[in-house]
Order: sequence, then C-alpha cells, then structure tokens
Amino acid sequence: ETIEKGGYDHFMIKEIFEQSRSIGDSMRGRLRSEDAHLQLGGLNNYLDKLAEADRIIIVGCGTSWHAGLVAEYLFEELARVNVEVEYASEFRYRNPVISEKDIVIAISQSGETADTLAAIELAKSKGATIFGVCNVVGSSIARATHAGAYTHAGPEIGVASTKAFTAQVTVLTLIAIAMAKRKGTITEETYRQLLIELEHIPEKVAKVFENASKIKEIAFIFTYARNFIYLGRGLNFPVALEGALKLKEISYIHAEGYPAAEMKHGPIALIDEDMPVVFLATRDSSYEKIVSNIQEVKARKGRVIAIVTEGDKLIPGMVDFVIEVPQTHEMLTPLVSVIPLQLLSYYIAVMRGRNVDQPRNLAKSVTVE
Ligand code: G6P
Repeated sequence: ETIEKGGYDHFMIKEIFEQSRSIGDSMRGRLRSEDAHLQLGGLNNYLDKLAEADRIIIVGCGTSWHAGLVAEYLFEELARVNVEVEYASEFRYRNPVISEKDIVIAISQSGETADTLAAIELAKSKGATIFGVCNVVGSSIARATHAGAYTHAGPEIGVASTKAFTAQVTVLTLIAIAMAKRKGTITEETYRQLLIELEHIPEKVAKVFENASKIKEIAFIFTYARNFIYLGRGLNFPVALEGALKLKEISYIHAEGYPAAEMKHGPIALIDEDMPVVFLATRDSSYEKIVSNIQEVKARKGRVIAIVTEGDKLIPGMVDFVIEVPQTHEMLTPLVSVIPLQLLSYYIAVMRGRNVDQPRNLAKSVTVE
C-alpha cells in the first residue's frame, strides 16, 4: 500500500496531485488544437442524435451530480440546449416526462451506483438515448448505456472523489464543445480558443499546487471551525457545492454550498466573526456581483477565504485570505477553481486526525439503495 501511495501519506492527496496529469489523460487522443481536432470515439455515431436532441437530462449522485451541474452551464451556453440535472435517486422514483428525442447522460466514477443504474433503466424504457460518462471500464453503467466516453482518470482509491470529478468535467466539456460545433452554436474562434485553453489546463492545475503550503497554513487556522459556507456564482456555484461536500466528507465539519446571491435569503443570518466563508471569486462575468457579496459578508464580520484569479488587485484588500488560481476561459474555470478546495479540505481533515481515505459511514461505491 505504501508503494501504491507513491510516497504520499494518503491516496487522496496523491490523487489530488495527479490531476495535472489525469486531466490530460481524459483528453488524450481526443483533442488537438493545432488542427482543431476534437473527437470522442464512443460518440462518433451519435453526433447527429446529439445535435437534434430536444433536451439533455443528466443523472448522477454525489460528486458526479456536481459534475452534472457544471455541465448544465456548458451545454446550455455552448450548445444552446435545454438541460436538466437530476439526482438519480429522485429521478428514478418520479414519473419523469421523457421522449425519444431526449438524451440522458449518466455520470458515475464507479459505474456501479445503484440509483444511477436504475435511473438509466427507467429512461431507457421510455425510449431515450443514454450516454455514460464513467471512469471504470466495463462497469455496469458503462454496459447499460447506448454509448459513452470513459473519463480515463485511472483508479481512484480515496473515498472522496477528486481526480474523477475533474475528469468528468473535462469529458463533459468535450462533449458540449463537440455538440456545439455540430449544431453551429459557437463560432470557429470560440471553438479554437476552447481547444487551446483545454490543452493548457494541466499546466494551470500544476500552478495551483504551488500554493499548497499557503493552503495548508489557512487550513491550520481553520482546523477547529465548526461550520463553513462556500459561495459561488455561475459555473463556480457547483464548485462551491463540491467544496462543501469535500469538507463534510473527510473532516466532518458542517459545510454548506450556496449560490452567492441566495445568501441573503437565509445563510447570511449565520454569519458572524466565527464563520469562515469560502468565496469562489475568479475574474469572470459574475466578478462584480461576487465582489459585492464579499462586502456583504465582511460587513457582518465573516472571515473570508477567496479563490481569486492570479493578479487580482481588488479582492486581496477586502478579505482575510486569498488563494490564486491561473486565468483560463470562463467555461473551464471549475477545472482550476476546485483544486484549492480539495486541498483545503484535505489539510483540515489531516490536521483533525481524520481517516481521509476512508471516512466514517461512507463507501466508495454505493451499490445498494
Ligand atoms: C459515493 C462516493 C462519492 C461519489 C458517489 C457517486 O457517495 O463516496 O464520492 O461521488 O458515491 O458515485 P459514482 O461512482 O456513481 O460517481
């Protein structure tokens, strides 16, 4: 086991650091910006079907559901298609309206989650076309779908998902871009720009790791916090949910992820000098709005940790701590902004003496209801 951990203390931290490579693995052979090449072998015969889809329904559980929420923004923005993201466990027990022109995308690291599998069977019985985005080759979900794309993140041992999440987001981004290209809903320039930016993601993720010791220091300060709030807008909203989930899973600290603007409808009542608030505040189309949300929290003495874009001059003067991430295309932000949140929860959990790779009560793959 020591050898498998490759010199790291835990699988989780090994897997976090692997992301500068695994994200590249998810794109390998699929994307080449040089000649604007993008191809997902498993979906080749389904591109017309995708382009003609009335709606995409995404199903998943846990972290995979969060990847689905990121994908909702991507498909809607790039491919101009209606998207619904559903918890598989809810979807399977409703009587959802599904037609043959719907495409269901099932997301699952293990490919064995019972609820996700049942959601697939239900959608299939109603005539939908089902795609899988799975990490484990030959898994039950991969076999139950009509087509799909593997995430190729390599085995993930830590119960809390890290590299599988970024792999899912990467593959879903590729599918959204391929669909947009086929539908003609993005310009040639945006298409090329996205491919170029995607190729740079692994090195940008590696740059985030340079902040690891700073993140560790912040973790030390907040080791004994009892609650955390994570706030983000747009594509960073699902990242806030994922950051909160990571912290809960492995440190057992209560954490809530919220869309930053919704804070005023409830969570703002919780804010005082003991409440750490993690803001996803990268420079994107919601930047100005996030800045005013930060002011609202600071006015109530909340302690703010902000994830900002490199070189941000404004936010560092407003908050308690900043963690910088490199600039990328707005659509790709989650791939870099989630990394510091994974590290923060890891270091806090380690400092609290938790079993980070096998947190209590959780299983890597939930094959029962
Ligand atoms: C469990 C795991 C989570 C995972 C979820 C969905 O709860 O602990 O890390 O996100 O199942 O698993 P799947 O294999 O379908 O992605």
